[in-house]
Amino acid sequence: METQRLLFRTHEPQDEPDFISMHTDPEVRRYVGGRAWPLEKARTRFREEYLGWPKEIYGLWATILKEKTKYIGCCGLRAGNTTSEAHLGYYLARPYWGRGLASEASQAFIDVAFTRLRLARLLADVEKGNDPSEHILQKFGFKFISSEELPASRRILNFYELMKSEWEKKLT
Ligand SMILES: CC(C)(COP(=O)(O)OP(=O)(O)OC[C@H]1O[C@@H](n2cnc3c(N)ncnc32)[C@H](O)[C@@H]1OP(=O)(O)O)[C@@H](O)C(=O)NCCC(=O)NCCS
Repeated sequence: METQRLLFRTHEPQDEPDFISMHTDPEVRRYVGGRAWPLEKARTRFREEYLGWPKEIYGLWATILKEKTKYIGCCGLRAGNTTSEAHLGYYLARPYWGRGLASEASQAFIDVAFTRLRLARLLADVEKGNDPSEHILQKFGFKFISSEELPASRRILNFYELMKSEWEKKLT
């Protein structure tokens, strides 16, 4: 799949250095777990979980900035608990923040969810304090549902949903 500036594809071996550099950056992981991954963890996760993934529609796609043919992160839909819903996710390397790229990716995957997959509901969770991420969700019409404090870390997750009916209303 492509948008104006982005290409989404399966993770390939040449993505490994950029994947590692993204996940070992403490700023990238600040609101997704709170800590940078150690180098070895990032390498193992890439080789064991991301390489060759996703194959089907669900998963976090290698996100390539077309202008530079550069791996800049991963975005996509994760399967939900029921067949009528999915979770939206986006992770970009720091040099590419603030250019509307996560919004561009989100728009594309929201369209896939509701138009191609005909899902009824999209979900997203954001850690409290991740203001740009919450702003993106709110911009696309996601509504806050609830919060949960993670017992181990005491970090707070905010849960959002976007109903297909709400999204269709926004389009008209
Ligand atoms: C969150 C993340 C994906 C945003 O990516 P991005 O490409 O910079 O996002 P965009 O440029 O598309 O949109 C950011 C929006 O937040 C707004 N924004 C930026 N800083 C903000 C702040 N402190 N408070 C509120 N809104 C803010 C921007 O103005 C923009 O909104 P606009 O399009 O209405 O102008 C990126 O910072 C990232 O990958 N972070 C690390 C991983 C992560 O946290 N992923 C999300 C997990 S829920």
